[in-house]
Amino acid sequence: MLELKHLSYAVHEDGGELGILNDISLTVGGGRLVVFTGPNGGGKTTLAKSIMGLVKPTAGRILWNGQDVTDLGITERAKLGISYGFQQPPRFKGLTVRDLLTLASGDGTLSKDRCCQYLTRVGLCANDYLDREVDASLSGGEVKRIEIASILARNAKLMIFDEPEAGIDLWSFARLTETFEQLHAAGGATMIIISHQERIISLADEVIVVGDGQIRHRGTPAEILPQILADTLGTCPVLRKEAMAQ
Ligand SMILES: Nc1ncnc2c1ncn2[C@@H]1O[C@H](COP(=O)(O)OP(=O)(O)OP(=O)(O)O)[C@@H](O)[C@H]1O
Ligand SMILES: [Mg+2]
Repeated sequence: MLELKHLSYAVHEDGGELGILNDISLTVGGGRLVVFTGPNGGGKTTLAKSIMGLVKPTAGRILWNGQDVTDLGITERAKLGISYGFQQPPRFKGLTVRDLLTLASGDGTLSKDRCCQYLTRVGLCANDYLDREVDASLSGGEVKRIEIASILARNAKLMIFDEPEAGIDLWSFARLTETFEQLHAAGGATMIIISHQERIISLADEVIVVGDGQIRHRGTPAEILPQILADTLGTCPVLRKEAMAQ
């Protein structure tokens, strides 16, 4: 179980303080699939990075299975089973896809078959990719899928995916959605997926709309999807008028 207690994050800008996360409290039960969604700049990535330890909150506590991890570093959190896939994954020159999956799995003798299974789950063919370097020669969608495969290889207990759909073609997106569905059905991991995609939102046990660094709405996909649409109209006077005219 993940617990966020009054989490805030502020930066100093132009002599003042800018609140990026503002007093977020949230509990995600073990084995749940929760989707964070909401407008660009709302604070979703910052929230995910706070859970992973990449951003240090200015106030509040983070508990993972009852243990306070707020002051732990990334490596210690990874050891406790927390993993995060970047919105824009870093590249690792000199490291092959096979090296990356092997490192992630913690199994120094990870077989080609196992690598192949992880890559297939994100729609990649192992024969084409195992010996490729994770460098600038990979396309944006390829590097994104390889990073997701490395999270699968890590077999983490809390998996956080930041916009896994970004830059991914439709066929691979369908494959990826199935993978999330199967992972969730297997029940071994708690999953937080940051997404703007209706297909992923509809997989969630709970959808959390983050905006202006706060939780704006939360509920089931059936409850939240109509509210997202209403909010979208609400921000634009032209669309709102059109909707009222219908
Ligand atoms: N270190 C920082 N200094 C100044 N502003 C920051 C900093 N980190 C984040 N922000 C701002 O905080 C806001 C939230 O950013 P964040 O990346 O968490 O949004 P997001 O919800 O993930 O957006 P998107 O949907 O575009 O990925 C943005 O306006 C961003 O510019
Ligand atoms: Mg983001």
